[in-house]
Amino acid sequence: MNFEITIAKTKDIKADVEVIFIQGENLEHRFIQDKKLLKKAGFKASQDEVCYLLERDRVYVGIQELEGKYIRRAAAKAIRAIKSKKYKSLKVASYTNKGCTYGIRAMVEGFVLGVYEFDKYKSTKNKNNIKKIIISTDEYSEYELDIQKASIQMHKGELIAQATNLTRDIVNTPPDDCYPKVMAKIAKKVAKECGLECDVLKVSDLQKEKMNALLAVARASRHKPKVIHLAHKPKDAKIKISIIGKGLTYDSGGLSLKPSDFMVTMKSDKSGASAVIGILQAVAKLKLPIEVHGFIGAVENMIGGDAYKPDDVLVAKNGKTIEVRNTDAEGRLVLADVLCYAQEQVKADYIFDLATLTGACVVGVGEYTSGVMGHNQNLKEMVVREAHYCGELATALDFNDYLKDTLKSKIADISNISNTRYGGAITAGLFLSEFIDEHHKNKWSHIDIAGPAYVEHEWGENPAGASGAGVRMMIKLIEKLTLKTPHQK
Ligand code: BES
Ligand code: ZN
Ligand code: ZN
Repeated sequence: MNFEITIAKTKDIKADVEVIFIQGENLEHRFIQDKKLLKKAGFKASQDEVCYLLERDRVYVGIQELEGKYIRRAAAKAIRAIKSKKYKSLKVASYTNKGCTYGIRAMVEGFVLGVYEFDKYKSTKNKNNIKKIIISTDEYSEYELDIQKASIQMHKGELIAQATNLTRDIVNTPPDDCYPKVMAKIAKKVAKECGLECDVLKVSDLQKEKMNALLAVARASRHKPKVIHLAHKPKDAKIKISIIGKGLTYDSGGLSLKPSDFMVTMKSDKSGASAVIGILQAVAKLKLPIEVHGFIGAVENMIGGDAYKPDDVLVAKNGKTIEVRNTDAEGRLVLADVLCYAQEQVKADYIFDLATLTGACVVGVGEYTSGVMGHNQNLKEMVVREAHYCGELATALDFNDYLKDTLKSKIADISNISNTRYGGAITAGLFLSEFIDEHHKNKWSHIDIAGPAYVEHEWGENPAGASGAGVRMMIKLIEKLTLKTPHQK
């Protein structure tokens, strides 16, 4: 799909179909030429309500407020309704929150995210015929828009949504077609296309690096683990950020085997890593003036004679000993080593990790929301705020010392599971905290994306399956951090 922006009014633009958003029941708006028909159809203009007028070649969609998150969802609904019809071109006006051109970015994101479908394995594909989208700067609430600014936002929206779709593709790919070696291949390809640095560590390197917790998790799989380091290093970089992604290309649970109903969808346990690849692609294409490092622990957690076991004691990269009491709590073992490696490699101003870490997080906050943890209250609040701004849901979960005590082991420095069945998302976060150096504690935030990364039904701008959770959130956050001067850290 190609995007174009113009100052011409929509009525003067030639296109096969028009999309019109309506806020509330305001059918008197000058954009609406089909008032009678809409009334007849009982159109209430509630959020996401679509009215497709085939004979007029117009699609009306309701929006709750003139805000990015509502516009994005509505744009996704609109394009889904007509993508496989005969139309090749689409025209649409501008909708902004009091003239802020972010509304254009959100709308473009909505179109690109809405048109996405994972049909690689389908014999019959539900093709998208729309090739061109023409946006008019004619604004719904009569705000004057600067076409230059609008055009930049349009471009950003397109790149960010494409990166999100790349992440979705990786996550949706079945585990026997996407294993650690394939993840490394994808990372290398993206790096080559966008001018990123890419370093891949193989087993012998991981042994040298003493990443024994990660190696233990990987041992029973026929697919060897990889640690992938992607880097965007612009000359004008103001600050450095590291993002670490959990990349379990399959999580069977290991010897603490998952029940069959819980094993399905575990190809999505590579969502954090896949988001890291998407984020690095977007950061490079957007040429953001910030140094961004992505670290991925790509591993498959399987069973077999060589599998690591409950009762094993592992020595992580930083020398801490871990009593394994459940091999299904593997993500934290992989991340422990990759977090140590990332801190050793890069002296970052901020460290984030993205991980489908716990079912407990999904139980606690629901499947659409990420849990944001860490020791720095301001940083957590910033992550939550920026996530909401770009249409992702996130909420802060607070650490406490009582839960920290539940990770104590009688025979090692720490146990890989807590001794209580409550607060599992937080105890997993507290486990990770043990692998963050003291001087980095306030720079780090852990984001548990176990819920939103993969949902088996359509929601908002997201299709059934992978959503690309974390990509938009992180880009927005990086943009925000870019604007901050170092002393504001
Ligand atoms: N990958 C899972 C977490 C998960 C669950 C992600 C559901 C997405 C949806 C993780 O490795 C895991 O199995 N965690 C265990 C931890 C437990 C053994 C302490 C869990 O959440 O049950
Ligand atoms: Zn697991
Ligand atoms: Zn897992």
